[in-house]
Amino acid sequence: MLDAAQLADTLHALLSESPESALKVIDSADLDPAQQATLQAAVTSSTKPVDQLTAVGRALIATGHGRDDANEAYRAAFYVSAHWHDYLQDPLFTLFTANKAGHLLDKWVHYFPLYTRYFSPFRGKAVRVLEIGVYRGGSMRMWTWFFGPEAKLVGMDVDPVAIECAKDEYSVVLGDQANPEDLRRVNDEYGPFDIIIDDGGHTMEQQITAVETLFPLLAEGGVYLVEDCHTSYWDSYAGGLKRPGTFVEWVKDRIDDLHGYHIPDTDEAVHPVWTQQVSGIHCHDSVVVMDKRGRFAPFAEQSGGGEFIHLGRPATAVISELTATRLSIAAERDRLRAELAEWESLAEDLRHARADVVGLRDFLGDLERDRDDSRSDAELAAAAADQAHEQMRWMRRSASWRLTSPLRAIRRRRL
Ligand SMILES: C[S@@+](CC[C@H](N)C(=O)[O-])C[C@H]1O[C@@H](n2cnc3c(N)ncnc32)[C@H](O)[C@@H]1O
Repeated sequence: MLDAAQLADTLHALLSESPESALKVIDSADLDPAQQATLQAAVTSSTKPVDQLTAVGRALIATGHGRDDANEAYRAAFYVSAHWHDYLQDPLFTLFTANKAGHLLDKWVHYFPLYTRYFSPFRGKAVRVLEIGVYRGGSMRMWTWFFGPEAKLVGMDVDPVAIECAKDEYSVVLGDQANPEDLRRVNDEYGPFDIIIDDGGHTMEQQITAVETLFPLLAEGGVYLVEDCHTSYWDSYAGGLKRPGTFVEWVKDRIDDLHGYHIPDTDEAVHPVWTQQVSGIHCHDSVVVMDKRGRFAPFAEQSGGGEFIHLGRPATAVISELTATRLSIAAERDRLRAELAEWESLAEDLRHARADVVGLRDFLGDLERDRDDSRSDAELAAAAADQAHEQMRWMRRSASWRLTSPLRAIRRRRL
């Protein structure tokens, strides 16, 4: 095994970008050949200190070193990475790093941005906050600063020493989170809470009893946060991967409940608390957050026209082009219709003119016929006159005409 000094030397060598020195320390340590090979492989796995340190952390676990040794390697990796720059923006991480003279504060560093994310909406407001697990009061100090003077904060711990340490500065009550009676009592006296933070004993029974008792009592819009859920995977806490009865398995069931409205053929799927009052479950490494807000039955709906929802910009451009084309075609159609109407009226005039011509022709025919009739009448009359004239000449030449001439002269004088 690497002893404490050898581990520190190895990590310092990697932090100062001297992997050869780290390999020398590992060479000189009291390790069997397999352990030595595993740790050396971790050092030579990358040229970047952040990756080397992370690999050494995993190798320490694999070679039987404790989790605390691995923790040192991971801490070194974090501070040589860019992540800590981001964390400097986080108010709780800043407070934590500046907490030089306060009560002991022992946290997994990746919890800070999660606290900030879920608790910021409550900051500066008159909210009620319960923390299960006070220990030496370090987090009570942090929450007092974070939530501000309007917030009412209360701590609960099963350990009388913890109560003794914190009682002069904070409201703290003695109670066991595995006991529903204790939980209801603290809720009756100080609740209903807007925020509950479970950082108590972390056993399966404690976590599950507390959430099953307190979540239904949480205020509308409240947040329930459980820390250190990795104990669900640790033997010493009755945990294990997919082991029935762990808190993480309990959370998985709640994820099913969250979808209760979508589970067919059973009304029991819609649980009055876990389906109807949990509006969200957020799972992070070691932290589970549950939002409390009464839900309505989920339903799907559509809004807006098909073109607006489903088509992208190119299609919209094509549609506007088509619209413009349709408008210009309609204008052309109207123009042609007007032109056609004009032609139709001309054709009507032509039809009338033709009918007039036909009428005139008939009339002309009648006139011609009349003229021909008149002509033949005149010819007949002329023929008759010629005949009469001939008869007259024949008569004048006759003897009787000449004998009766004096009689006709007398008649003319009488007249
Ligand atoms: C991890 S410490 C809390 C640390 C504290 N929240 C902080 O950040 O400084 C866990 C605390 O939970 C308390 N605890 C353990 N079992 C408990 C139980 N069944 N009910 C209430 N508190 C419990 C312990 O006494 C201990 O003080």
